[in-house]
Amino acid sequence: MNILGIETSCDETAAAVVKDGRTVLSNVVYTQIPLHVPYGGVVPEIASRAHIEKISEVVRTALAEAAKAPDPDAGRIDAVAVTYGPGLSPALVVGLNAAKGLAKSLGVPLFGINHIEAHLHTPFLAEPDAAAESPLDPLKCMPALGLAISGGHTTWVEMPRYGVYEVVGQTLDDAAGEAFDKAAKLLGLGYPGGPKVDRIAREYFESCGASRPDLIPFPKGRPREGVTALAGLPAECCVSFSGLKTALLRYVQQNGGAEALAAAGEIPRVVASYQEAIVGAVVDRTRTALRRGSFKAMIVGGGVSLNSRLRTALDETCRREKIQLLMARPKFCGDNGAMIAALAYYRRNKAGAEAMRLDVAPSLDFEP
Ligand code: KG4
Ligand code: ZN
Repeated sequence: MNILGIETSCDETAAAVVKDGRTVLSNVVYTQIPLHVPYGGVVPEIASRAHIEKISEVVRTALAEAAKAPDPDAGRIDAVAVTYGPGLSPALVVGLNAAKGLAKSLGVPLFGINHIEAHLHTPFLAEPDAAAESPLDPLKCMPALGLAISGGHTTWVEMPRYGVYEVVGQTLDDAAGEAFDKAAKLLGLGYPGGPKVDRIAREYFESCGASRPDLIPFPKGRPREGVTALAGLPAECCVSFSGLKTALLRYVQQNGGAEALAAAGEIPRVVASYQEAIVGAVVDRTRTALRRGSFKAMIVGGGVSLNSRLRTALDETCRREKIQLLMARPKFCGDNGAMIAALAYYRRNKAGAEAMRLDVAPSLDFEP
């Protein structure tokens, strides 16, 4: 079964064709980042307009590339899947409307897909040329602990069975990606901040060689027990990055501002310390969540899972906890249509007439 997946929840216009929920026949991502750079963040109206301008071309290219695959049925589309939330409303609506039109004109069913759930499916994506790679069966990796870590989410979910989600921890304020992006903006590093912070911190650690890095002790984002924002979740499985952000702001102010820090060559040490606080918090809460349950695997998805320090730290933690770590290859970590198409094959929960009636759901969360 070949599914065309469409994704327009934020600043990437993406479409892909995936066979049987795993084999990626094509995966086209048009990134709007250069359009948003002058504003230091995603501007919803600009995102929406760019999606409108690009969606037809991106879908056409995805279909054409899939049709070139050696599979004799590669040119056939059996269903269309689309992100309907969470995300920016004016951006989501472009993909949803395009997908409805395509499903109708092709005479195939439509599936509505939850973007964060799709991120947690990315470790199961395989490419046709990756013959050596034995594809993982998501159904056989349960029960699992999932971590969705992106620009909008930092959420830990227990997955007792595939497609069943029980939130066990989350951020009480900013998502990890947002925390990276805001720090980068404050330090004058530009947008998007995550990749820049990652590179600068990596270079800082490399420059330390064998000597111990001289890190600033930023707070590690542990919420206090009993605060109402926990909404009944255990504090030991949640993070809060607002204190960290304030600590960074105070540090910058006390040291004469970002320009003074840059002139003193201090930015790499500040960035590495800040990243270390986020990674430390995420790894600590992950370890706690793992120890609270009994899992076969740890599944990590979302743009922040590209962070090289986080990848290494999660790998070390899962080795120590003797649990299999399933993390997408970097090309599938950011927003893409392949994860939408792949999840649709397994989930099929918002389908057909119900999907055709779907409206965008900007605040969609994990559905139990
Ligand atoms: O999943 P994604 O592409 O979009 C959302 O669903 O939000 O995630 C985007 C987020 C941004 O905040 C971006 O700064 C962050 O992922 N990000 C990173 C890295 N690459 C992207 N954060 C840390 N390190 C990275 N290498
Ligand atoms: Zn995403």
